[in-house]
Amino acid sequence: MTQRILLLLTCALLAVSCARLKTDLPAPVASGVKVHEAGWGTSSSDNFHGRSLLKAGWDDTACKTCHAADFSGGSSGVSCFTCHPAYPHDVQFVKAGGRHTDYVRAMNYPLQQCQTCHGQNYTGGAILTVGCESSSCHADANGNLKSPESCNTCHGDFRAAANLQGIAYLLSAAPPKSVFRDTAATVLGVGAHQIHLRADSLGSAKGVKCQECHDVPSSIYEPGHLLTFQRKYAGGLAAVMFKDTLARLVTGNGSNIPLPLYSSPTCAGTYCHGNWVLRKATASAFAQQYVYTDSVMTGAHASPSWVAGSAEGQCSSCHGGSPGVYVPKGHILSELANCVDCHGDVTDASGNILNKAKHINGQIDLRAELGGSVPMR
Ligand code: HEC
Ligand code: HEC
Ligand code: HEC
Ligand code: HEC
Ligand code: HEC
Ligand code: HEC
Ligand code: HEC
Repeated sequence: MTQRILLLLTCALLAVSCARLKTDLPAPVASGVKVHEAGWGTSSSDNFHGRSLLKAGWDDTACKTCHAADFSGGSSGVSCFTCHPAYPHDVQFVKAGGRHTDYVRAMNYPLQQCQTCHGQNYTGGAILTVGCESSSCHADANGNLKSPESCNTCHGDFRAAANLQGIAYLLSAAPPKSVFRDTAATVLGVGAHQIHLRADSLGSAKGVKCQECHDVPSSIYEPGHLLTFQRKYAGGLAAVMFKDTLARLVTGNGSNIPLPLYSSPTCAGTYCHGNWVLRKATASAFAQQYVYTDSVMTGAHASPSWVAGSAEGQCSSCHGGSPGVYVPKGHILSELANCVDCHGDVTDASGNILNKAKHINGQIDLRAELGGSVPMR
C-alpha cells in the first residue's frame, strides 16, 4: 500500500513538473481526482472506471493526463489496451484507417472482445448501452436490426432483409461486396459470383450453390473460415474447393474424373466448363449413327479467369467450335438454330438457352423421342 501511494505521488509529481516545462499538455487533473479509488478496476463496483466514464459522457480527456494521449500508459505506466485492446476507440480505430470495420478486419475479427463491453448479443452491456444492434447501423434496408455475426455483414449484401432463411440467406452472403467492400467484378473477392448464382445466368435455374466451390461455414467461428483470411495475407487464397457433385462429375464411362483446381484467378478442370467425355460405344444407336464423328465426344475443357467477365461465358468457351456452330469435338456440325431439333427446349430457335434447368445440369438432354433426359455417362 505504501509503495502504491509512493508511486502515485511520483506520478502526480511527474505530471506537475512536466506541466511546468511544457505548455501544450492537457489541463492538469482537477485536484479532487483520486488516483484511483477502490473498485476502479472492478466492473461490479460503483466506483468502476467504466461507470465513471459513462457519467462523464465517455469523456476521457482527463485520463490522458496520466495514461498518455494515445493511452499507451504515459506517466501512469498502465495502458488501457492491456485489458481491452480495442478501447478507447478514437485511438485504436483511427490507427487502422478510421473505421471500426477496418479495425476488426485488420485484427482478424476479434468479435468476442467487442462482446465484453457491447454485450453478448451486441445489444449493449451492463454499463455501456451502445450496441451494434441498438445503433441504427446494423440494420437491413427497412431498418430491421441484425447481428454483426449475420453472414452478410462482412461480405455480401449488408442491407439484405434481416429475416432471410435458407438458400436466400446464403445467397445474400455472396460478394459483392467483398471483405474489402469492393463491388467491381474485376476484383478477385467479387469476380464471377453473381453470374454463377443469379437466376438469369446460363444454367442457374438449378442454382450453383456455394458448396460447389467452397467449404461453407455453418458458423463464423468454424475453423478455416476467418482463419483462411489470415492465410490469405500470409500469401494464401480464399478457400476455393470443389466438394459438391457437379464440378466433379465423372464421365467417359468412369474414366474421366475431374480434379478441379482454382489457382487464382484461374479455374481449371471442372465438368461445368467442359471437362467431360462421352463414348460412342455406349451411346444410343441414333447417336452412334447420326451424331458421332469420332469414337469420343469431348467438351472444350475451358480454364476461365474468375475476373475476365462475360468473355468466359460464351458458348464456344465450354463447347468449342466456331461462331454459329458451337458443337463439341466429335459431334456433327450444326447451326445454333438447329440444336433445338434434337436437344429440344434446351435452346430456342435462335440458339439462346431457353430451359436453364436443363443446361449444365449433368444430364444429356434430348427430345423425348431421341431418349429424353439421361445422366451423363
Ligand atoms: C493523475 C494520474 C491519473 C489519471 C488522471 C488517471 N489515471 Fe488511471 N491510473 C493512474 C495510475 C498511476 C495507475 C496505476 C496505479 C493504480 O492502479 O492506481 C492507474 C491505473 C488505472 C487503471 C487500472 C486499475 C486497476 O485496478 O488495475 C485503470 C482502469 C485506469 N487507471 C483508468 C483510468 C481512467 C479511465 C482515467 C480517466 C477517467 C484515469 N485512469 C485517469 C493514474 C491516473
Ligand atoms: C486493469 C485492466 C483495465 C485497464 C488498465 C483499463 N480497463 Fe477499462 N475495463 C476493464 C474491464 C474489466 C472492463 C469491463 C469489461 C467487461 O465487462 O468485461 C472495462 C470496461 C471499460 C469501459 C466500458 C465499460 C463497460 O463495461 O461497458 C470503458 C469505457 C473503459 N473500460 C475505459 C478504459 C480506459 C479509458 C482505460 C485507460 C485509461 C481503461 N479502461 C483501462 C479493465 C481495464
Ligand atoms: C472496453 C469496452 C469496449 C470494448 C472492448 C469495445 N467497445 Fe466499442 N464502445 C465502447 C464505448 C464506451 C463506446 C461509446 C463511447 C465511444 O464512442 O467511445 C463504444 C462505441 C462503439 C461504437 C460506436 C462509435 C460511434 O461513433 O457511435 C462502435 C462502432 C464500436 N464501439 C465498435 C466496437 C467494436 C467493433 C469492438 C470490438 C473490436 C468494440 N467496440 C469493443 C466500449 C467498448
Ligand atoms: C465477421 C466477419 C464475417 C462474418 C460475420 C462471416 N464471414 Fe464469411 N468470410 C469472412 C472472411 C474474412 C472471409 C475470408 C475472405 C478471404 O479469405 O478472402 C470469409 C470467407 C467466406 C467464404 C469463402 C470461403 C472461405 O472460407 O474463404 C464463405 C463461403 C463464407 N465466408 C460464408 C459465410 C457464412 C455462411 C457466414 C455466416 C454463417 C459468414 N461467412 C459470416 C468474414 C465473415
Ligand atoms: C463458381 C465457384 C464459386 C461459387 C459457386 C461461389 N464462390 Fe465464393 N469465391 C469463388 C472464388 C473463385 C473466390 C475468389 C478466390 C480468390 O481470392 O482468389 C471466392 C471468394 C469468396 C469470398 C471471399 C471474398 C473476399 O473478399 O475475399 C466469399 C466471402 C465468398 N466467396 C462467398 C461465397 C458464397 C456465400 C457463395 C454462395 C452464395 C459463393 N461464394 C459461391 C468461387 C465461388
Ligand atoms: C441431329 C441431332 C443433334 C443436333 C442437331 C445437335 N445435337 Fe448435340 N447431341 C445429339 C445427341 C444424340 C447427343 C448425345 C450423345 C450421346 O448420348 O453420347 C448429343 C450430345 C451433345 C452434347 C454432349 C452431351 C449433352 O447432351 O450435353 C453437347 C454439349 C451437344 N450435343 C451440343 C449441341 C449443340 C450446341 C448443338 C447445336 C449447335 C447440337 N448439340 C445439335 C444430337 C444432336
Ligand atoms: C460454362 C460452360 C458452358 C457455356 C458457356 C455453355 N454451355 Fe452448353 N453445355 C455445357 C455443359 C457442361 C453441357 C453438358 C450437359 C449438361 O450438363 O447439361 C452443355 C450442354 C449443352 C447442350 C446440349 C443439351 C444438354 O443440356 O444436354 C446444348 C444444346 C448447349 N449446351 C448449348 C449451349 C449454347 C447455345 C451456349 C451459348 C449460348 C452454351 N451451351 C454455353 C456448358 C456450357
